[in-house]
Amino acid sequence: MKLKERVFSGMQPTGSLHLGNYLGAMVQWIEMQKTHECIYCVVDLHAITVWQDPTELRHAIRQVTAAYIASGLDPKKSILFNQSQVAAHAELAWIFNCVARLGWLNRMTQFKEKAGKDREAASVGLYAYPNLMAADILAYRATHVPVGEDQKQHLELARDIAQKFNNDFRESIEAKGYADGLFFPQPEPVITGPATRVMSLRDGTKKMSKSDPSEQSRIALTDDAEAIANKVKRAKTDPDALPSEVKGLAGRPEAENLLGIYAAVTGRTLEAVVAEVGGQQFSAFKKLLSDALVARIVPIGDEIRRLMGDAAEIDRVLADGASRARAIANPIMDEVRDIVGFIRS
Ligand code: AMP
Ligand code: TRP
Repeated sequence: MKLKERVFSGMQPTGSLHLGNYLGAMVQWIEMQKTHECIYCVVDLHAITVWQDPTELRHAIRQVTAAYIASGLDPKKSILFNQSQVAAHAELAWIFNCVARLGWLNRMTQFKEKAGKDREAASVGLYAYPNLMAADILAYRATHVPVGEDQKQHLELARDIAQKFNNDFRESIEAKGYADGLFFPQPEPVITGPATRVMSLRDGTKKMSKSDPSEQSRIALTDDAEAIANKVKRAKTDPDALPSEVKGLAGRPEAENLLGIYAAVTGRTLEAVVAEVGGQQFSAFKKLLSDALVARIVPIGDEIRRLMGDAAEIDRVLADGASRARAIANPIMDEVRDIVGFIRS
């Protein structure tokens, strides 16, 4: 166990988790449990940046928690909780709202995508979302953040916020005994899952996403064998046979995506997979892919359904995680209050 290093990551409870979440982030989260102190959050405060029906939100928080556990997160080893139970997130986010600059947030591509054409109608929370994400990480002074490729820009912003806070409050930080003026660490992105960018099954140029209106575009962790087989069968392809070299995937986004998924779920490299299936027609390959996905995903879905049968137990896990999270964040927040110049009793 490497000491002082601490892992933080989170997912939004805005629907069922999918293969992109699993291969892009979760597999790495599970791996890091072996070497690090890990804190994994269900980010419900992030979810409400766009409208969520309260009954569905409650259900989704429990379902994402169940998916974490079913995928292999151990709530005894790691801290597993929902964000709104720990006040430090919202509190530090406010301070960061006053550290981050409008110009920084104006560059965030995810806001532009999510807000769409009618930017005036987006919530203020959606705009300030990356500040809350920085607060999630830094409330624990976490050093490593395993995420998919799409979160890279948000993590760069978190690093800028940590650095500006350290600079702005340098004197105050040094007065507290941090000789080097380093209060917040620069959190490092860990973008090394087996497939850091899984694309939609309907369009190899768009990322697989919970918010895509087409269910056919993604494989949910709760899909049964039949649903998985159907989605793979209908997945978009091109008319050519599969290439026998990786470079033959250039300009063939759907082929690249399906082979990438196959490599990730079977734990092999793209090269190894191309060597196995190169020259095959998509129809033959799709059968292999769907069998591999069924073997990997269906047991997780079964476990999610079993865990969802006992909501009280899930709530107990979240309550226990929240109290362990508060025990780490509260003393850090006391120091933040002193550094900023607030009076506390
Ligand atoms: P979200 O679904 O936006 O809450 O994302 C949760 C985590 O899954 C983040 O680390 C994302 O980067 C990752 N993720 C989401 N969609 C994908 C995808 N299509 N491919 C790879 N990683 C993804
Ligand atoms: N913004 C991330 C996403 O949509 C979720 C998230 C919120 C997160 N807070 C975080 C990820 C802190 C890593 C660390 O995927």
